[in-house]
Amino acid sequence: EIKAFAFDLDGVIADTARFHGQAWHQLADQVGTEWTPELADGLKGVGRMDSLEMILKAGGHENDYTLAEKEALATQKNDNYLRLVETLTPADILPGMQAFLDELKAQGYRLILASASKNAPKVLGYLKLSEYFEDIVDPAKLAHSKPAPDIYLQAAKQLGLQPNQVIGVEDAQAGIQAIKAAGELAIGIGDNLTDADVTFATTAEVSLAAIASQLS
Ligand code: G6P
Ligand code: MG
Repeated sequence: EIKAFAFDLDGVIADTARFHGQAWHQLADQVGTEWTPELADGLKGVGRMDSLEMILKAGGHENDYTLAEKEALATQKNDNYLRLVETLTPADILPGMQAFLDELKAQGYRLILASASKNAPKVLGYLKLSEYFEDIVDPAKLAHSKPAPDIYLQAAKQLGLQPNQVIGVEDAQAGIQAIKAAGELAIGIGDNLTDADVTFATTAEVSLAAIASQLS
């Protein structure tokens, strides 16, 4: 029986995937990697240093920088990202998401955040959604980032639940893979999320009834 929902943040609760994309695009231009839709899509859900490595690799620049230089590039991206998310307000919660979170709370489901972003607590605060989540997984403490199952396994563990009592909600392929590898049911929001158990084109369509009808 499902007791809890583990939520990704960027691209699921708010349109912050756009801001990550903008900040990475700027960095790709700077290091001379061509910014393509495929690269942009592949970065969704991927942690900060892994994202940087993917961008460097896509342009053949993976050996052009020392570790210290890579860390400086990642910090620079994060500073740009923070400047963009600072503008977030509750009006930036994706369509239908506040209603869905309200529905889950009303039905007694427990909520935990399973975002790879170290900025997630701050972003939840800007959106005024911190109160909805009883806990947040700290991505800094995990050995492997999405698509590895670590973050979704840790989410279940922090709630004291088994993976099969948790549903994960994601907008990116790496995230769906992480949920499935953890042995949890996966809700995918967006295109090309073929491995998800339940899929929606947009956040506006997500509700408990719509989920139940796809699972039956
Ligand atoms: C999420 C986003 C990614 C981002 C990652 C790390 O998974 O989807 O785009 O790179 O978090 O975020 P951070 O804010 O810690 O750099
Ligand atoms: Mg996401």
